[in-house]
Amino acid sequence: MKINRFGDTELQVSELGFGCGAVGGLMVLADHKEMMNAVEYAIDSGINYFDTARMYGDGLSEIHTGAILRELDRTDLLIGTKVRIAGDEFGNIAKTISDQIENSLQRLGIDTVDIVYTHNTIGSERNVSSGTLSVDDLDSIVEVFEKAAASGKLRYWGFNGLGETDSIKEALVQYSPSGIHTCYNMLNPTSGYQLTKTFPYQNYEELMKVASGAGIGTVGIRILAGGALSGSLERHPIAQQNVAPIATSATFQEDVSRTSAFEFLHKEGFVDNLVEASVRFAISNDSLDTALIGLSNFDQLQQAVDYANKGALPQEALDNIRGIWAVSQLHE
Ligand SMILES: NC(=O)c1ccc[n+]([C@@H]2O[C@H](COP(=O)([O-])OP(=O)(O)OC[C@H]3O[C@@H](n4cnc5c(N)ncnc54)[C@H](OP(=O)(O)O)[C@@H]3O)[C@@H](O)[C@H]2O)c1
Repeated sequence: MKINRFGDTELQVSELGFGCGAVGGLMVLADHKEMMNAVEYAIDSGINYFDTARMYGDGLSEIHTGAILRELDRTDLLIGTKVRIAGDEFGNIAKTISDQIENSLQRLGIDTVDIVYTHNTIGSERNVSSGTLSVDDLDSIVEVFEKAAASGKLRYWGFNGLGETDSIKEALVQYSPSGIHTCYNMLNPTSGYQLTKTFPYQNYEELMKVASGAGIGTVGIRILAGGALSGSLERHPIAQQNVAPIATSATFQEDVSRTSAFEFLHKEGFVDNLVEASVRFAISNDSLDTALIGLSNFDQLQQAVDYANKGALPQEALDNIRGIWAVSQLHE
């Protein structure tokens, strides 16, 4: 598995990262043996980054991820987690973040976490009901992050690159985080590609490219559009059954129907299926340091590793994918 330097940090991350989120549910709801097998297989395959958050299974993902890595006695692997302000907590952001870092360390069972991200969206103005932090709100959070770094509780900190594109970019310039999460897939590639204003979904205006150019590490999320890029409406029994799309169509169902635009990749022999196309599409972009895969079971992990090991998509396939966005076939 290819290893990339994570922005300007000292972290070296595998091009595929292990998504411990609730959409797939493996690290939240699977039985211990399946989690253990998957994590062991991931490590043996060269995956070294595990992405969790307090929100995933209300702490369960952190507890399971920490416990399994301890059981395997692997302290050399990288863990990222996230903090999130909600409701009344907007009244005391600094204390909430500080407490959440402590609680995450406890659940993970470690003294230092490699990277902590904000999980909230970022906007031009604070919006408590949607959980959006203003760029200025990040001030007090960064202060807490810096203190936590100085006292050895975390090594690096970063932001969630979701919300309003201009505000996210402003936050990157103002605070220079070590890393960002960014939504990137064949349905919405705008974090990595410059597309016209008529593109049907939110335009991230090359956020990933801009961040990478500024020495900020990049973590790709929603590489499979929450599962829609499998081309199937069916959800795994332990997966989140209702997935809210991020920066694509209004509904998961609509996202699934949009994936037909990419079926030519399979028909023309570039790939065996859309999941392979999506994984290889993500790792084809040099601005992306690690592409997270959300997982429901061991087989999905094994497939993702096999696909990543096939390498980047051929340029002809990438050019043809670009053609789909150019003619906005996603609309049809
Ligand atoms: N920063 C943020 O706000 C944020 C937001 C979202 C995600 N994330 C991170 O990114 C990670 C991944 O994102 P995600 O889980 O939202 O979405 P994702 O990786 O785009 O999609 C995950 C889903 O894809 C399907 N899938 C995976 N492998 C497959 C295969 N081989 N064949 C068929 N289907 C397959 C599964 O659906 P089924 O379960 O139905 O089989 C799985 O639940 C998360 O775990 C989390 O760590 C961060």
